[in-house]
Amino acid sequence: MAEHGSGARSSSHGPNGGTRDPRNPPVPRPAAAAPDKQTLRTRLLAARRALTAPQRAQAAEDLRTHVLEWAQDRPDGPVCAYLPVGAEPGSLDLLDGLRAAGRSVLLPVVPPRPGALDWAPYRGAGSLGPGRLGLREPTTPRLGPAALRTAVAVLVPALAADRAGHRLGRGGGYYDRTLGGSAPGTALLALLYDGELLDAVPADAHDHPVTGVAMPTAGIVVTGNIGRA
Ligand SMILES: Nc1ncnc2c1ncn2[C@@H]1O[C@H](COP(=O)(O)OP(=O)(O)OP(=O)(O)O)[C@@H](O)[C@H]1O
Ligand SMILES: [Mg+2]
Repeated sequence: MAEHGSGARSSSHGPNGGTRDPRNPPVPRPAAAAPDKQTLRTRLLAARRALTAPQRAQAAEDLRTHVLEWAQDRPDGPVCAYLPVGAEPGSLDLLDGLRAAGRSVLLPVVPPRPGALDWAPYRGAGSLGPGRLGLREPTTPRLGPAALRTAVAVLVPALAADRAGHRLGRGGGYYDRTLGGSAPGTALLALLYDGELLDAVPADAHDHPVTGVAMPTAGIVVTGNIGRA
């Protein structure tokens, strides 16, 4: 980055350098401002696009292993999941693995107006069709937003999260409007690539936290569960 370069003005002798004019002290450099959500999204999406197909496939396989193992210890009940788009972490294999383990899997259906997501059962790749926002969605009967309340776990798409549970999504606000409808104690697990668990993610009052993240190498990491069981 430019501020770390050795330009013409780098000839002073450090912060207390003896050659500085004491009548004209250096102006302290402000701490780097935390990136805003959109800046962070742009950076994270670029990093995802840079992943090779084999890297994405390996990450999907590792995530599948971690999440299926983790799900074994969850109480009986449906898992709300999502269909990954583009380089999003996750896979149909993961959804199929959950079903093979006896779980009912629900997938989101984007509502006609901004609001909570609707849900419909996943019954295999053959039961998917085109949905809103260019997404695929189940062609099975809609269960309504309240179906989320029956879930014992929700796999949440995210671009990043931090250890407090703050989550950065793609900017639609759909999950923020939705997750409040989950039952207390429901595991809300964001699926991430390695490196997407950040020191801090910008959060607003409307942002709904997650209770954990899943990553290919680190596996499941429980987050701060702000306000959650
Ligand atoms: N509960 C809510 N009620 C009304 N508006 C909301 C609510 N939650 C989020 N929004 C709005 O949604 C927009 C996007 O929010 P934000 O940037 O946090 O999205 P995101 O978390 O990245 O998206 P998503 O939840 O779909 O993954 C914001 O303008 C915000 O005001
Ligand atoms: Mg948000």
